[in-house]
Amino acid sequence: MSVVRFLACGVAVVTGLAGMALPAHSSDAAFSKIKIEAGEKLFDSECRRCHAADAKDPSYGPLLENIIGRGAGTYPDFDYSTALEASGIVWTEAALRAWMEDNTGFMPGTKMRHVGITDRTVQDFIIAYLESITTRDGKEISK
Ligand code: HEC
Repeated sequence: MSVVRFLACGVAVVTGLAGMALPAHSSDAAFSKIKIEAGEKLFDSECRRCHAADAKDPSYGPLLENIIGRGAGTYPDFDYSTALEASGIVWTEAALRAWMEDNTGFMPGTKMRHVGITDRTVQDFIIAYLESITTRDGKEISK
């Protein structure tokens, strides 16, 4: 057997093993579904009284559908504080964590009442839910 054929054979074995590890993939999917569901419940109790996740629902605060990757203070139908509008930040996962942890410390002058969600798992779940209501092209998600 030439070296090349031997290597090709090795690659085939490795790929085969990777294929066998696939069930882990489906449990990842199950886990992310659980995270989204838990996140929705947490969002219901911590955020929904002020924020809608669907443009059809009335809300006191800005709509959070498509929030991940959106520029801060850019939802057209909301009268933001100057602090938020002028911040120039983009809502990445890290920014959302800092916001949930201590929004008034992260952005003095914001008109969102202080929230202090420091538990990383709770943050993870809420972010998983926010991801589930975000599309890459920013189009509305129909439910
Ligand atoms: C008491 C009402 C209230 C609660 C509760 C609340 N928010 Fe807010 N939120 C607001 C208001 C008002 C603003 C606009 C702040 C500003 O203009 O400075 C805001 C702004 C935001 C923004 C910036 C949006 C944008 O378009 O730039 C994010 C992100 C956000 N909130 C996430 C959350 C999350 C996540 C929760 C739950 C953990 C939450 N908020 C809970 C009232 C609230």
